Amino acid sequence: MASYEEVGIGDAVLLDEISTRAFVDNLRVRFNGGKIYTYIGEVCVSVNPYRTINLYGKEYVTQYKGREIFERPPHVFALADAAYKAMKRRGQDTCIVISGESGSGKTEASKIIMRYIAAVTNVAGQQEIERVKNVLLQSNAILEAFGNAKTNRNDNSSRFGKYMDINFDFKGDPIGGHVQNYLLEKSRVVLQQPGERNFHSFYQVLFGATDSDLSKLKLKRDVNAYHYIRQGGTPRVDSIADKVDYKACQAAFKTLGFSPEQTDAIWRIVSAILHLGNIEFTSGGDETQIKNPKEVSNIAELLRVSPDQVTKALCHRVIAARGEVMEKRHTESEASYGRDAFAKAIYERLFSSIVEGVNNAIEVRFEGAEAKYKYNTVIGVLDIYGFEIFDRNSFEQFCINYCNEKLQQLFIELVLKQEQEEYRREGIAWQTIEYFNNQIICDLVEQSHKGIIAITDEACLNVGRVTDEMLLEAMEGKLKGHKHFTTRKLSPMDKELKHVEEFRVKHYAGDVVYSIKGFLEKNKDTLFQDFKRLMYSSSDPVISSMWPEGAQDITMTTKRPLTAGTLFKNSMIALVKNLACKEPYYIRCIKPNDQKSPVIFDEERVTHQVNYLGLVENLRVRRAGFAYRQSYDRFLRRYKMISQYTWPNFHGGTDREGTKILVEEQGFSNDVKYGNTKIFVRSPQTLFALEQARAKLIPGIVIFLQKMWRGALCRMRYRRMCAALTIMRHYRLYKMRSYMLELHRVFRNVRQMQDYGKHVRWPAPPLVLRSMVSDFQSIHNRWRAHMILSNVPKSDWPQLRIKVIAGDVLMGKRADWGVRETWEGNYLASTRENPDSSAFQSAVKNMRNKDGFREVLFSSLVRKINRNDKMSERAILVTDRQIYKLHSKTFKPLRSPIPILEVSGISVSPGQDQLVIIHLRGGNDFVVSLMSQSNANRVGELTGLLLRQYQLLNRADLRVVVAGTLQCMLGNKSRMITVEETNVGTFPAFRKGTKRGELVYSWPESLNKALPPPPQTSLHRQAPNPPSRPPPGANGYGNGNDHGYGNGHIKGGSGYHNVDRNSNGNGHVYANTGRY
Ligand SMILES: Nc1ncnc2c1ncn2[C@@H]1O[C@H](COP(=O)(O)OP(=O)(O)O)[C@@H](O)[C@H]1O
Ligand SMILES: [Mg+2]
Repeated sequence: MASYEEVGIGDAVLLDEISTRAFVDNLRVRFNGGKIYTYIGEVCVSVNPYRTINLYGKEYVTQYKGREIFERPPHVFALADAAYKAMKRRGQDTCIVISGESGSGKTEASKIIMRYIAAVTNVAGQQEIERVKNVLLQSNAILEAFGNAKTNRNDNSSRFGKYMDINFDFKGDPIGGHVQNYLLEKSRVVLQQPGERNFHSFYQVLFGATDSDLSKLKLKRDVNAYHYIRQGGTPRVDSIADKVDYKACQAAFKTLGFSPEQTDAIWRIVSAILHLGNIEFTSGGDETQIKNPKEVSNIAELLRVSPDQVTKALCHRVIAARGEVMEKRHTESEASYGRDAFAKAIYERLFSSIVEGVNNAIEVRFEGAEAKYKYNTVIGVLDIYGFEIFDRNSFEQFCINYCNEKLQQLFIELVLKQEQEEYRREGIAWQTIEYFNNQIICDLVEQSHKGIIAITDEACLNVGRVTDEMLLEAMEGKLKGHKHFTTRKLSPMDKELKHVEEFRVKHYAGDVVYSIKGFLEKNKDTLFQDFKRLMYSSSDPVISSMWPEGAQDITMTTKRPLTAGTLFKNSMIALVKNLACKEPYYIRCIKPNDQKSPVIFDEERVTHQVNYLGLVENLRVRRAGFAYRQSYDRFLRRYKMISQYTWPNFHGGTDREGTKILVEEQGFSNDVKYGNTKIFVRSPQTLFALEQARAKLIPGIVIFLQKMWRGALCRMRYRRMCAALTIMRHYRLYKMRSYMLELHRVFRNVRQMQDYGKHVRWPAPPLVLRSMVSDFQSIHNRWRAHMILSNVPKSDWPQLRIKVIAGDVLMGKRADWGVRETWEGNYLASTRENPDSSAFQSAVKNMRNKDGFREVLFSSLVRKINRNDKMSERAILVTDRQIYKLHSKTFKPLRSPIPILEVSGISVSPGQDQLVIIHLRGGNDFVVSLMSQSNANRVGELTGLLLRQYQLLNRADLRVVVAGTLQCMLGNKSRMITVEETNVGTFPAFRKGTKRGELVYSWPESLNKALPPPPQTSLHRQAPNPPSRPPPGANGYGNGNDHGYGNGHIKGGSGYHNVDRNSNGNGHVYANTGRY
């Protein structure tokens, strides 16, 4: 518990002695010490301090927010929070019933509660909720302006009953509300007691409106100019700032969404009533007439009706009898009565329509609100007029006091009777406490046939003249002997009561003498039809809509309306029913003195209130009773997590046993009693400890639930993912399968195809296979290569490889590069080419021994040109490492060999000639024309060989130039060699050109061969000829055989598979017909 400076005893339950004296003493001590709130358990007793105390600031709000009642010093905040918590925690509708006599602080308390609720809600700052809160708070300014007045007991006395529901959403934020008003004391509009005022609104408009507005309303800023507001003789009250309140009221109208037309009409109606009050009648001659017709025109203008109609309605009555319509002129007194009834009725209607307007503004009005706020709960705040005793008490006081009887009855029912009955029912040992049950008084007022209201209604129903005196007689007849009702006739000794005028009711809160005068009229509450029609005829739609029944035809007989008494009784019964189904919280207000003094504690007055409020009985019941009770199942459900035996579920027996085990484990056995169906907890501290233990565990449980739910969500998501993957996998398989089938279809005859399917267009692959297709294609290509190569004898593969390399650089650039010929390489070793081949062989042997190469790749006789432009015959020998220049007869090397790595490029011409320039790094290129016995074309062969060998040795490509004019270096000089074909001579020759430094290589046309057409034309058309298998033992390139490669199996000419690289250079091998 929070420690705080205690004055007296905060919770009267803890008093040493339980007596009215001790209780009042404690209140006094606390009042004098500035402590105005005291608890009786959960009932808050509030003593009006009549001064501003700093008790309601932000710091106090934070102190009480979310706290249990007994944790902090007594305060209405604590009660408001308890009601709020109950609502939020348990989804329970709650209500806060504020009772006490007039001026005891009920309305203040209700405003404090509203402000507290506004302060603790909407932490998220939602705009709509902020608006609702603002509207709820500001609606007070309007309701008080029109429904409150200064009385002798209270400067700001509520002259109507108010029950306000605040609706909350599931988060506990206010989303709207509803105001129910009860019986406005409308007689005040035309009559005030000395020292009192009319409703604030009249004074607000007089003091608050601007000059120009006043003149529009035809008003003077002078209270004494108006009969209806000057009777009390107290136009101004220190505690009331009419001007400021007027502004606040106007602002509130705006906030609540009243249109300017509405507000304008409202103030015009208020002004019209003031003018109406000044209307006087004369009966010059027989005719009742209006003395001051100017006022009539004011009224007509303000109400937007015709002046004639106003005059007519005030002075006449239209009566319909037996289908005939007659006009009857009022007597002077009838006219005065009619005027006042009219004024009261207009004001009452106005007030109701303002309440309606307020409700329109605060109604829960989200779209689909009902569904969305299915879980909404309400807190009702009841601030109703308190019990009052005036010098003269009339029908209004009777109603008001009856209302307080009803509320007291509810309190007794709930707090005293029900509580005790419950203990009995639950079999808890209990000593019954006596209390006064006021049911008998409620019955006195409301019973059918025998109740005061019923008797009055009956009198009103009587045709013919029934007077108030006759009504009193009727009451005397029916209520004779009732303990709580008496008159002078019934108790002749009672000198206090006036004969045939007064009756006394012994209320729970004290005896009240009522004057019967006006009871009948006020109960009947007649308003001549003429006024209703007049108002309905208004050209101002705001006004005319307030009086819909004015539309009725005069001849229509209307059902007799319910009397004021019965209406009030019904509304009270409905109110009590509404409150009874909510969890009630009570604030009992006490007035410390009648002087509105902050320092006087009038013991007698307070004792009286304490007595009639039944506070000491309340205390007794409370003290003997229990702070909290709950059915076993709900108790267990709420607290099961704090015991290992009951969490997560109790399986060891009934809920009662579970509860017992839980309570014992927590060590609270001495503070509880076990009833038949409920557990009773004596002290709030125990409950608090249970709540705290629970609150400590809740976050863990929440996290646990979140964890489980997250897990469940993830598993669900995982399963969905797996399903999706399965579907995807199957779909992918299906797509692949269909693709493969499609491939299968288009490539079905691939073996029979001339190009083994090279021309076949691949069907567009599905997305999943897109990356695979290039693999398929390379597989296909490899297969095609295999198919093509399988037609070529293995022994031909080495020369094939060279041909491919040569073709890569020469095909399409050079007319003939010898592809159709058999490339043997080492030509000088063959006697066909070289009759002295044995000399060559032995020379090679020597060189090999000396220079250590492994094999001979190429040898040929050449015609060479040197740096002095001299042409000579030589032999060339290419080994796996070097290039030798040999003597053409002896085959001895003429100089040391040139390493192949020294080669920097090769140049050849596009023609059929045999010129080859082997560029060397040294600045002295090797420029030769290849010679052969058979006029064979060996340029391609030598080029391919060098390229390949260079690639093997250096992992790089040699540059090959094919051009008609070629550049070369001879003797460190750059020379140009032009290739020309001549029709003279029989062998190729070099000579000097015409230009300086130019060389010409001339090639006799006669050596040219006829060439086949380009290969593309015949491609794909012709099935390949069956390959001729090579004889076994065929050799190839690179087999270490000095005889060169191949044994002539690859022959030029048709009928043979030729292998080439296709011209787009993508490295794929294709078969062609070999026709070129
Ligand atoms: N808690 C309070 N703090 C200060 N003044 C108060 C308080 N309660 C009531 N009063 C004073 O008492 C007057 C009457 O209170 P009110 O709530 O209007 O009484 P009721 O509604 O019971 O007739 C208020 O105008 C105010 O001056
Ligand atoms: Mg009030």
